[in-house]
Amino acid sequence: MLAAALILTASTASAAPLGSERQAALLYLLRQDCGSCHGSTMGGGLAPPLLPQSLAETPDDALIAAILDGRPGTPMPPWRFEINPNEAAWMVRQLKGGLAE
Ligand code: HEC
Repeated sequence: MLAAALILTASTASAAPLGSERQAALLYLLRQDCGSCHGSTMGGGLAPPLLPQSLAETPDDALIAAILDGRPGTPMPPWRFEINPNEAAWMVRQLKGGLAE
């Protein structure tokens, strides 16, 4: 029952535009959690940079898949349990557009 409710919630969420609170939470996550490896301004650190010029050649789908499922065999962890596909797509658009300071 609970699983069905969660799936329903997730699929409803992925159809709807992101609310401004969720957008703010995802930007915070990018700078804090993702930033701990990728650098707080996405310029790279322990992990490669996530700057527009670094990502331009990679298709959105591949970047979304990396966020949702991680990159097995590398330190890049999966985020599927916190971030739904719609949110991952939004994050990729933010990264490709360059995060506002
Ligand atoms: C524990 C360190 C770590 C954390 C935390 C982390 N990453 Fe990564 N990430 C990596 C590494 C290492 C790679 C490179 C994997 C490879 O060699 O393919 C990577 C790769 C990626 C890629 C693919 C880049 C490309 O050019 O193909 C994306 C997109 C990405 N990470 C986004 C994120 C996002 C968004 C978050 C936060 C939700 C995040 N990462 C958190 C370590 C991390």
